Amino acid sequence: MAVDSFTGKLAAITGGGSGMGRELARQLAAQGCSVAACDLNADAVADTAAAARAGAPPGVRVTSHTCDVSDEAQVLRFRDELLTGHATDHVDLVFSNAGIGGGSSFITDSRQEWERTFAIDWWGVYYCARAFLPLLIASSDGVLVNTSSVNGFWASLGPGVPQTAYSTAKFAVKGFSEALIEDLRAHAPHVRVAVVMPGHVGTDIIANSFRARGLPEPEHMSDAQLEELIPRDTQAELIRAGLLAQDAPADELRQMLVRANADFRDKAPVSAAEAATIILDGVRSGAWRILVGEDAKMIDAAVRAKPEASYDYAELFSAPAEEPAAGAPEE
Ligand SMILES: NC(=O)c1ccc[n+]([C@@H]2O[C@H](COP(=O)([O-])OP(=O)(O)OC[C@H]3O[C@@H](n4cnc5c(N)ncnc54)[C@H](O)[C@@H]3O)[C@@H](O)[C@H]2O)c1
Repeated sequence: MAVDSFTGKLAAITGGGSGMGRELARQLAAQGCSVAACDLNADAVADTAAAARAGAPPGVRVTSHTCDVSDEAQVLRFRDELLTGHATDHVDLVFSNAGIGGGSSFITDSRQEWERTFAIDWWGVYYCARAFLPLLIASSDGVLVNTSSVNGFWASLGPGVPQTAYSTAKFAVKGFSEALIEDLRAHAPHVRVAVVMPGHVGTDIIANSFRARGLPEPEHMSDAQLEELIPRDTQAELIRAGLLAQDAPADELRQMLVRANADFRDKAPVSAAEAATIILDGVRSGAWRILVGEDAKMIDAAVRAKPEASYDYAELFSAPAEEPAAGAPEE
């Protein structure tokens, strides 16, 4: 079920205040699609709405809403505000995009951080599906677009970098989305679901994740907050890897966090705007799995080719054995 055009449709977007959510809002509005965008950060999503309105043709309505997707009552309030603000009884597109990182280690990170990450990345997607699926069913051809990650099929970030809360949630998002394919076919065949699996996309997700966990900007973090974020054993690993000087003052750790966010955003192979275009092209084409970036495609291919080597990184990313050319002499 391809979509010819987004013109005249209405999209709900979560996490619309930054990154891919902001770019989805801008690009959809520019293509004549009305948008209701929500975010934890009210000012950021209001800025998104203003930018989207500025680039939209006449007749497009863009609204911004404050909502924590991990709280079902707030998701229902966002839905109700959308229905009133857009004077509608249905939605054509839902982008469940809000997400944060954190809770990397089940062993050393706090239970609070782990559960906050899981609540946003999984329960947020679940509550949005509960709230918005009836509105997609009420449309003539609805699409639910859930954002997972490469960590939805590969539960690590490489040697020494576990990713437990995020991966658990993102696997759930992928599993839920895939399970909905048959459910929708059987019970609401005019609605479909797509799952987005980005690799590294240049956004402020590191800084926004701190904020969503109630932490201040890195420059204003207390020594105790820094130590909770980067425990002593992680600091020791950073020193061993030459990324942090021995006996570095706390301010150096704060600067390291600022740099980490800027590098993640500015040195990514795919920008947020490029990612949004890939996502919208995927939705338009009728795809149900949308991989964003060559890194995502490479990891997907590697994990499928060598599932047992998924966490044996040297083996996983080693070049596949070359087939001997036809007629080549046997060694
Ligand atoms: N950037 C990447 O490399 C990457 C890779 C794979 C998957 N993803 C996923 O893509 C999605 C978008 O990420 P991004 O990189 O654009 O991040 P981002 O931080 O730029 O944007 C995410 C937005 O979600 C908002 N948000 C956070 N918690 C929220 C909550 N509880 N309720 C409502 N809004 C909330 C943030 O305030 C932020 O504005 C996320 O689900 C993320 O996990 C990102």
